[in-house]
Amino acid sequence: YLPPLAWLLFCIIIRLQHPPYTEDCRTGMYPPEGPTFKGEVPWYTVDLDLPPSKRWTDVITDKKNNAMIQAIKDLADAFVPSGKLTDLVDRDLPLMVDTLPYPFNEEIKGVAATSGVPLGEVILFNIFYEVFTVCTSLVAEDPAGNLIHARNLDFGLFMGWKNKSWVMTEKLKPLVVNVDFRRNNRTVFKSTNFAGYVGMLTGLRPQMFTLTMNERFTLDGGYIGILEWILGKRNGIWMSFLTRSILENATSYAEAKKQLSDTKLLAPAYFILGGNQTGEACIITRSRTQSIHPLELDIQQGRWYVLETNYDHWKPPLFLDDRRTPAMKCMNQTTQSNISVKTVYDVLSTKPVLNKLTTYTTLMEVASGKLESFIRDCPNPCMPW
Ligand SMILES: *[C@@H]1O[C@H](CO)[C@@H](O)[C@H](O)[C@H]1NC(C)=O
Ligand SMILES: *[C@@H]1O[C@H](CO)[C@@H](O)[C@H](O)[C@H]1NC(C)=O
Ligand SMILES: *[C@@H]1O[C@H](CO)[C@@H](O)[C@H](O)[C@H]1NC(C)=O
Ligand SMILES: *[C@@H]1O[C@H](CO)[C@@H](O)[C@H](O)[C@H]1NC(C)=O
Ligand SMILES: *[C@@H]1O[C@H](CO)[C@@H](O)[C@H](O)[C@H]1NC(C)=O
Ligand SMILES: *[C@@H]1O[C@H](CO)[C@@H](O)[C@H](O)[C@H]1NC(C)=O
Repeated sequence: YLPPLAWLLFCIIIRLQHPPYTEDCRTGMYPPEGPTFKGEVPWYTVDLDLPPSKRWTDVITDKKNNAMIQAIKDLADAFVPSGKLTDLVDRDLPLMVDTLPYPFNEEIKGVAATSGVPLGEVILFNIFYEVFTVCTSLVAEDPAGNLIHARNLDFGLFMGWKNKSWVMTEKLKPLVVNVDFRRNNRTVFKSTNFAGYVGMLTGLRPQMFTLTMNERFTLDGGYIGILEWILGKRNGIWMSFLTRSILENATSYAEAKKQLSDTKLLAPAYFILGGNQTGEACIITRSRTQSIHPLELDIQQGRWYVLETNYDHWKPPLFLDDRRTPAMKCMNQTTQSNISVKTVYDVLSTKPVLNKLTTYTTLMEVASGKLESFIRDCPNPCMPW
């Protein structure tokens, strides 16, 4: 027996899983234009030869008059109901910065100093991304053996709904930046980021590997590890700090894979990793301590792509939130012989893979070292997630 309200919700959800909330696989969406495309993402350079506290000055100086300060404050407000815990955020959280590893501690201090946003709020902005992103990531191999890695980043779930959109999702769109990280004035890696956030969710090390991270929800989830960190038990690493370290310092697919599989983490996560030659792509499903059921690209077995949303690949996705089946349906329909950056963009532009949370789409090609990102919008009618 279901109470009436549950029935109503059930019917709404069933309704959302049919047209016009879902649609046939899109075609001809690239180059991006029209109502699902809200703009190009601007490029910035971060010089790794500068002291960490100075690295983000250009990005922050440019973005701080924009929506950035308000977005960080709103994010802090969303997590910490107004007023009640301001003391914690503004007085106690800053103490935490020195427990974070170098160079992240210094970079975060630099962001706070340049933007004028209180340190505690910048720390919160850097912590909570890790546990609130729902996404779709995929790596596909074309018939010539080139690897294409792409993702939609969906952020802002349950953080306010206004004018048929998620409030935080809209506020973050102006903060999306592409960053070219350089050493000796040469590109080490590239990423798509939010201004003020020093970890990495999406990045490419040219001619070596590509990497994205998706959130994994489990009972032993995000908060426990973060709480332990705050309370002083610090034997795991922040997930997006690990991805940043790997993009900056790992020099092969094999090395990246080993570190992503073996490093102890503060919270579970999915890492989607692509290499630089045929067959090199995998989904690494992580608990805090180990890698579970790694899934590899396998051309012989007909697995010419790997795709991850926010559910373990060996289990069905939550029926309320199935972006995996529509995305795989469109990949299968495209076929390996027609896969390209263009057709991958089509897959990521099909509802509900594209939804109200989708903030940006990134397309990466390891061989050419090309990374491009687009701010997205999902015009009504559109799934909220
Ligand atoms: C609501 O959204 C529509 C487009 O989705 C936009 O044109 C309109 O300006 C928005 N209204 C407000 C009050 O933000
Ligand atoms: C860095 O490289 C760019 C081109 O890649 C060049 O325009 C610039 O002058 C170089 N800067 C320095 C300080 O060498
Ligand atoms: C990468 O390695 C260099 C040299 O060991 C180190 O100084 C730097 O902090 C590392 N970067 C990250 C993000 O861990
Ligand atoms: C792939 O990466 C390895 C390890 O960094 C490198 O030795 C090799 O040259 C790369 N291959 C290509 C095709 O870029
Ligand atoms: C896509 O193709 C794969 C491999 O043939 C198959 O396992 C999967 O069930 C297909 N998924 C959909 C949604 O068509
Ligand atoms: C895929 O490519 C083949 C030629 O290689 C073409 O005949 C076919 O129409 C294409 N299919 C789609 C769905 O674009």
